[in-house]
Amino acid sequence: MTAEIHVDQADGILTITLARPDKKNALTNVMYGTLADIIESAEHDSNIRVLLVQGDGDMFTAGNDVGEFAAMASGKGPSERHVHRFLHALAKSSVPIIAAVQGKAVGIGTTMLLHCDYVLLAPDAELITPFVNLALVPEAASSWLLPLRIGHVRAFEMFALGEPLDAPSAVALGIANKVCANGQLRDDARRMAERIAAKPAGSLSAMKKLMRNAQTLVAQMDSESAKFQERLTSAEAREAFAAFAEKRKPEFSRVPQH
Ligand code: COA
Repeated sequence: MTAEIHVDQADGILTITLARPDKKNALTNVMYGTLADIIESAEHDSNIRVLLVQGDGDMFTAGNDVGEFAAMASGKGPSERHVHRFLHALAKSSVPIIAAVQGKAVGIGTTMLLHCDYVLLAPDAELITPFVNLALVPEAASSWLLPLRIGHVRAFEMFALGEPLDAPSAVALGIANKVCANGQLRDDARRMAERIAAKPAGSLSAMKKLMRNAQTLVAQMDSESAKFQERLTSAEAREAFAAFAEKRKPEFSRVPQH
């Protein structure tokens, strides 16, 4: 358990808070490990009827820690990558998951929403999938789930350009349920969690399993991971990570394609 993930359990609701606001809740390997442990153990805990995911500070999460990406690109990454366990746990979870998103949700911050069952956005929420800008490929089965959800051309645009999707557009496209009034995000999310926690949990869990095919999701995640790993060590990705560290724009035209 890391201090950068806070957990609070009350009234059947397990609230998971990303708590690394000084780094915009960028997710580290250790944080993924804790998140995976929480979601896995919730699956076998009948006292937990709903999971509620939120982030401290001015944004939900800036996605994967780019410093850790850079370490992996130069072969210095962790021996065990917990992100896979986290993603598999998300795909397999039969507990309803609610997400409350303010500010930016970058990379996995957006793709994890495709595994949530009810998504609330603050008016300033922006969903961003900059995988191509980082010379990577989409993960979390989003290469399959996003086109399925919003159509191929819109998903291509989000992935290829990496430009933010604003909150009303995310609702219009079916990625989120509602935009909350200013300052109401956490209260609204809590109220929705209470409503869902009051429903018959066995029925919800059976319904969720029918609605999501965990096996297909995990298979897609595994194909993406293989490609992602390959891309991480590409010259293009090294240029993208160096540019982030040096706070400059990447110059891909100088880098050979492979
Ligand atoms: N990984 C590691 N550190 C990150 C981070 C990330 N994904 N996102 C932000 N941070 C750090 C910054 O390096 C900075 O650290 P510093 O104070 O030690 O310099 C701190 O968080 C604040 O970020 P900053 O960039 O100053 O905030 P901002 O509000 O101007 O911009 C973002 C926020 C999210 C737009 C910008 O930080 C960003 O683009 N981050 C990278 C997002 C990304 O590509 N994620 C991977 C997706 S696959």
